[in-house]
Amino acid sequence: MEKMTLQVNDLCTSFFTDKGEIKAVNHVSFDVPKRSIIGIVGESGCGKSMTARSVMRLLKYPGKIVSGSIAIEDKELTALTEAEMSNVRGEEISMIFQEPMTSLNPVMKVGKQVQEVVLLHRKVTKQEAKKEVIRIFEKVGISEPEKRYECYPHELSGGLRQRVMIAMAMICRPKLLIADEPTTALDVTVEAQILELMKNLRDEIGTSIILISHNLGVVAELCDYVHVMYAGRIVEQAETFELFDNPKHPYTIGLMNAVDSLEKKQGVLDTIPGTVPNLLDLPEGCSFEPRCGKRCEKCVECVPELHEIAPGHLVRCHACGQEV
Ligand SMILES: Nc1ncnc2c1ncn2[C@@H]1O[C@H](COP(=O)(O)OP(=O)(O)O)[C@@H](O)[C@H]1O
Ligand SMILES: [Mg+2]
Repeated sequence: MEKMTLQVNDLCTSFFTDKGEIKAVNHVSFDVPKRSIIGIVGESGCGKSMTARSVMRLLKYPGKIVSGSIAIEDKELTALTEAEMSNVRGEEISMIFQEPMTSLNPVMKVGKQVQEVVLLHRKVTKQEAKKEVIRIFEKVGISEPEKRYECYPHELSGGLRQRVMIAMAMICRPKLLIADEPTTALDVTVEAQILELMKNLRDEIGTSIILISHNLGVVAELCDYVHVMYAGRIVEQAETFELFDNPKHPYTIGLMNAVDSLEKKQGVLDTIPGTVPNLLDLPEGCSFEPRCGKRCEKCVECVPELHEIAPGHLVRCHACGQEV
């Protein structure tokens, strides 16, 4: 069997609010094969970040993993203590976010911030740690690394700040990098450079990557395999070329038609009428049914199972039958 870096099985994560349980991640399962880049796409609010934060065990109150399993190379993360989990973060799994400003300390030089990560996880001197930082700065394409080492975050461009974040995430050569909308705040030229950089790091260091995006175009560039999420559930999953050649779920098709308009109007899917259902009060049937042009009676009655319609291609839709 193919070696897996990460296996997520039947994960449920909810927010327990005064109004009730918000099912942000609803029975989600996926694998990340070694050295692969997998994409998670879907509109804003569909559970992408909460899936990532569950893997990192970085959920803010009142969010909680309700059930399911998350394993990195056979190590069950849901069973670890908080202390064990903080060793896993940075060392085995790293995460980068859309806006690096919120994750960087504004009053500390960026070089020092990356150096601290090295000192936390490795038994090296400050001198050696600094050398490592300069080396990784070069690797992630930060020119004049010695000079940049001494800069504060606000002195760098958005693209450079994201490179610093990637350097910080990669310096311990983690098994898995989770990138949550890493290029959304950047212009398209810089976006292309950052995506290229992530691909190179995967090739060179062998880190597996989960790339989260609301933009199918970005995912198509980089990913080997794609998972489409809607209202907390995975609704379609397939190898990238298969998904683009042969999209099946009406939601995936809508997303594909929206690639251009999404870039203009953040998060608004004008090709699919209606809005994402309230996660507090999900319909009994398919969550996409109220917006779907292919709906039938069955869609109102029960949630479709994720079923295989071609090898490795799974769809959660009553109207998408077995091919062949
Ligand atoms: N702090 C919170 N309190 C309550 N509900 C939340 C909170 N954060 C997120 N949610 C719920 O979780 C859902 C999924 O959020 P998220 O994973 O951030 O979506 P996205 O796909 O945009 O990353 C949201 O639609 C929202 O209903
Ligand atoms: Mg998000």
